[in-house]
Amino acid sequence: MAIFEVEPGAPLMGEAVIHPAKNAALPVIAASLLTADTLVVPDMPDLTDVQSMCELLVACGATVERDGASMALSARQLTPPASAAMMRWTRASALIMGPMLARLGYARITMPGGCAIGQRPIDLHLKGMAALGAEVTTRQGFIELHGTLRGAVVYLDLPSVGATENIMMAATLADGVTRIENAAKEPEVVDLAHCLNAMGALVHGAGTATIVVRGVESLHGATHQPIPDRIEAGTLCCAAAAAGGNILLRNARPEQMRALLFKLQESGTTVSEFPGGLRIRGKAKWPMEIRTLSYPGFPTDMQAPMMVVACVTPGTSVFLETIFENRFMHVPELIRMGASIRVEDRVAVIEGGYRLQGADVRCPDLRSGAALLLAGLTADGITRVEDGAGHIDRGYVRLEETLSALGAKVRRL
Ligand code: EPZ
Repeated sequence: MAIFEVEPGAPLMGEAVIHPAKNAALPVIAASLLTADTLVVPDMPDLTDVQSMCELLVACGATVERDGASMALSARQLTPPASAAMMRWTRASALIMGPMLARLGYARITMPGGCAIGQRPIDLHLKGMAALGAEVTTRQGFIELHGTLRGAVVYLDLPSVGATENIMMAATLADGVTRIENAAKEPEVVDLAHCLNAMGALVHGAGTATIVVRGVESLHGATHQPIPDRIEAGTLCCAAAAAGGNILLRNARPEQMRALLFKLQESGTTVSEFPGGLRIRGKAKWPMEIRTLSYPGFPTDMQAPMMVVACVTPGTSVFLETIFENRFMHVPELIRMGASIRVEDRVAVIEGGYRLQGADVRCPDLRSGAALLLAGLTADGITRVEDGAGHIDRGYVRLEETLSALGAKVRRL
């Protein structure tokens, strides 16, 4: 149970080193199930979602060894997880489906949990597995999949990140060629393809709407370092745009953050890029129009942190959340801090430019929690963010320490 206490302070100054991405690490952990050899990740981020995923792998018979920042994953033996309980932990638990089915010809998962940001079904994951030849049955809350996989053409109604990743992993050991149409183009999908190819897979076209996978007999071990976290970097950019300051983000990859950086520059901040990172300077000055879209559009994970920037920037800003049906859980909490926000379905209208007031607020999900910490940086008085479920630690490595190193007054009680 974490409570974060935030006080307003001087503009942010200094530098931060961006950690490896949660949303790149989780599929890579799942990919280790595709081989009896060892997959090594030299720098695995210390996140509770990573911890949960590793516990799930151990429940499937894999071994996970931590040596400092490095992690070695070996799924020599593999059996479906006995207990369904731990699969509710993270949405990413659905990602063991594809690898397990490809390796064993059988997989059993429970309907995964995840944030409260929407129903988040896995129908497209299951559509892909069925297309590859799996027989899918649901029984007592479990989903069972049986079958020897063979290559197929799969059309995704939505460019789902998880479905793309799951089907791509399953297809690496299928008999023949698989084509995924309307695939997600996120950098984390490309990173997973790099990991799979390092393991001996034949994946082409990751990062485009059409991914082609030529099945192989088996995959072998490899060493793969997941890409830096563009959402952590983006969150810190929003902190600077809201609280002001001049910060340097090492390891950030601006080429993977184009939509966010353009919107921040349009709103009046200054962004400069250099090999190995970026620098962001100055508060936002003008209101913004934000529409979340699949990559390379504006990331839905950046919607809550960016809304804090809109709250403290004079003018009327409009946000349209097109990806998840319930991703404005931070709005009632921001309103408690004095923000002026109106929500109609998937549209939020923000009258910005008023000082926020410190308050006791609740953390409803991962990105909303981070946004509330950012709001506290600019609010008059003390803000306490109650994070009973530990959402923030699921996706950020000690975010309070990163912000404090930039001069923010944030502490974990
Ligand atoms: C990934 O979730 C990320 N998580 C999310 O980050 C991110 O918000 C999301 O992609 C969108 O970019 C991980 O990578 C672990 P989707 P995922 O499948 O794969 C619908 C964070 O804060 N959908 O692209 O679950 C779904 O309901 C998290 O780090 C179906 O309808 O996202 C949603 O509305 C939050 N059927 C939309 O598609 C399906 O079978 C996008 O979901 C699958 C998805």
